[in-house]
Amino acid sequence: MTYQGLIHRYGHLLDLPAHTQNISLLEGNTPLIPMPRLGKEFGCELFVKFEGLNPTGSFKDRGMTAAISEAVGRGAQTVICASTGNTAASAAAYASRAGLRSIVLIPEGKVAAGKLAGAIAYGAEVIQIQGSFDDALSLVVEITQKTPIALVNSINPYRVEGQKTAAFEICDVLDNAPDWLCLPVGNAGNITSYWAGFKQYQKGLPQVLGVQAAGSAPLVLGHPVDNPETIATAIRIGRPARGEQALEAAQQSNGRIIAVSDAEILSAQKILASEGVWVEPASAAGLAGLIAESAFGKFDASGKRIVVVCTGHGLKDPSVITDSFTSPKVIPANYEALISLVGG
Ligand code: F0G
Repeated sequence: MTYQGLIHRYGHLLDLPAHTQNISLLEGNTPLIPMPRLGKEFGCELFVKFEGLNPTGSFKDRGMTAAISEAVGRGAQTVICASTGNTAASAAAYASRAGLRSIVLIPEGKVAAGKLAGAIAYGAEVIQIQGSFDDALSLVVEITQKTPIALVNSINPYRVEGQKTAAFEICDVLDNAPDWLCLPVGNAGNITSYWAGFKQYQKGLPQVLGVQAAGSAPLVLGHPVDNPETIATAIRIGRPARGEQALEAAQQSNGRIIAVSDAEILSAQKILASEGVWVEPASAAGLAGLIAESAFGKFDASGKRIVVVCTGHGLKDPSVITDSFTSPKVIPANYEALISLVGG
């Protein structure tokens, strides 16, 4: 049967109310790409779960199909979220598809071009906040407590239900859970969802390596960060809403949450691209964490089966690449100029 989206495929395993009306863009079913060359360096069997191939270019579509399907079924007319960009684009797309109004609050000047463009293109009312993602999240929580507007951040439990499906898919492809799962951690909805998904699916449990950016690492530092900074703007978050659950997932899985520098993130992004997988900076944090832990000897990858979750597509944040390279060379439009540049 042709693929009909996540609620169709896994809805029986998701705790969604009876009023849910399936709103889908055929999200999910993303590839688990083998990375044999890179895996060899760690002596492990390595895979990338490439979530950038979802309809709006990030894993957020998994939770959004669930959250919007529930919201529209209960008669909501307007949805709202705070976002570092990907949630905004996803909420806008699914809300438009369902005929709902969407409002997204983003930190001023700190959202990557591809995400902002997406949110606008899909029809969201975009509001910039003179503050951080964390400030925006407090505001949307307040307005949804005081008005009928529906909240579609991952505080919304249906977001977590939808995002559990990534764990199901990995187990379906590998037959079992991997030994390790490495992924970026921002507001901590995704790590919470994966852990819930693996526990529910009963195909074994991975150890979980959650990775924050060093300038935005409240879960590593053990306290909130008031002015988070990182080039990985998707995870530029100082007060993760599901921080406790993220720490629980790391602890229960006998894994850990670590921080990596922006330089390590950019280096991992390059390595992934050199294997044909271009992801946005935050999405490279999982691999950066794996590399750092291996280098420090804290991690023996040998013989293990490891899945690195790449949460968003490189096209979301092209300026990270174009800003750091000189422009391509310009030549006259003739063969002589071309062959003299390229060589024979
Ligand atoms: N990777 C990407 C590409 C993201 O956009 C996010 C979060 C994360 C990782 C972290 O996931 O928050 O569940 O721990 N982006 C949110 C947003 C905050 O607004 O798009 P998390």
